[in-house]
Amino acid sequence: MAKERIGIMGGTFNPVHQGHMDMARAAATQENLDKVLFLPTGNPPHKHEGVVDAEDRYRMAASAIAQDPLLVPSRLELERAGVIYTVDTLTILKEKYPKAQLYYIIGADTLMELKHWRNYEKVLTMCTFLVCPRMGGASPSELEAERKRLTAMGGNFIYVRMAPVDTASTQIRQALSQGREPELLPPVVLEYVRASGLYGVESCLYLGKIWIQQLWEALSLKRFAHSLGVAFTARRLALIHGVDPVQAETAGLLHDCAKCFPLQEMQRICQEHVLTQDPAVLESGNLLHSVAGAFVAANDYHVSDPDVLRAISSHTTGKVGMNALDMVVYLADKIEPGRAPYPLLDQVRAAALLSLPRAMLLSMEGTAKYVKKGGKPLHPTTQAVVEWLRSAQKADTSIH
Ligand SMILES: [Fe+2]
Ligand SMILES: [Fe+2]
Repeated sequence: MAKERIGIMGGTFNPVHQGHMDMARAAATQENLDKVLFLPTGNPPHKHEGVVDAEDRYRMAASAIAQDPLLVPSRLELERAGVIYTVDTLTILKEKYPKAQLYYIIGADTLMELKHWRNYEKVLTMCTFLVCPRMGGASPSELEAERKRLTAMGGNFIYVRMAPVDTASTQIRQALSQGREPELLPPVVLEYVRASGLYGVESCLYLGKIWIQQLWEALSLKRFAHSLGVAFTARRLALIHGVDPVQAETAGLLHDCAKCFPLQEMQRICQEHVLTQDPAVLESGNLLHSVAGAFVAANDYHVSDPDVLRAISSHTTGKVGMNALDMVVYLADKIEPGRAPYPLLDQVRAAALLSLPRAMLLSMEGTAKYVKKGGKPLHPTTQAVVEWLRSAQKADTSIH
């Protein structure tokens, strides 16, 4: 059997950005890697100016790569106290994966720094280095001279063919502290930063940091990343369509807060508090989590805004007479950046920028087709919403 080929992306990830992901993917494709581990460093022993807590850096990195099965977050460096050197990390990884071949992915700037790493002579013999081009820094001839010198000492280096990475976390932190939203920051990371109030960004959400903590504990990683994506998209749609962006962001972030509860727990909540008696809803976790979610958002997350709670409770079946905020949250759930592709995704995304009711109809008709194809009955509420949207469109009246 061929040896497993494991890539390693180490770093502070303060915060993770598109450049890190591009490097990992380019290296993995070129060298046929089976996976790439993202290993954010732990907290430094002495507080470093501008470095946010290791747990936040880990969660941002894990959320950014949550939808890509090739990229895997690792807590290895987080869980060790004090400074951890690459030589230690590689020793641990070699013990954990004794049969694997290890590939350490670095930027060209790091190649010039290698000689300062602890025990670097040993490090050179423990892995192959995949070197990604970076903008600026050492000249190609300086790089080549250093590569030759380190190769003569037993190192193994392969250049990764890709456009030079021109992003650095420093520029991203600076942009954030100036109130800008850096393009090369993945949307889920931007949302994490906004909700938690990191890097000098003030959170607009009532209990942003606490909600992030609660959601991290209550949801799977994929669901957590999805929730960040929905909050990000809901805010964007809200700003386009004149809806309150804070209500939209809040409802988007919390819309699936009950999704990872066992079905029986959702049923208990809904029966105990008489939230629904609809047997079709009570039997399906896919429908029930919106009704249960509104209750959990009110009780466990202390949301008292009835508009936000209504948007959460209607995000699965929709509701006849749903307002613009409800539509924003419903649609954000369907089109957030991490959504796996489905037939109408691009059309719904495009329509959502122009008209909420039209995008709703497109999305719900698509859902209806999908449900029918699977041989299941469409929930009567969804059917009623489709008809309501159709007749409204025929009459060409706007729905608010
Ligand atoms: Fe949901
Ligand atoms: Fe969702």
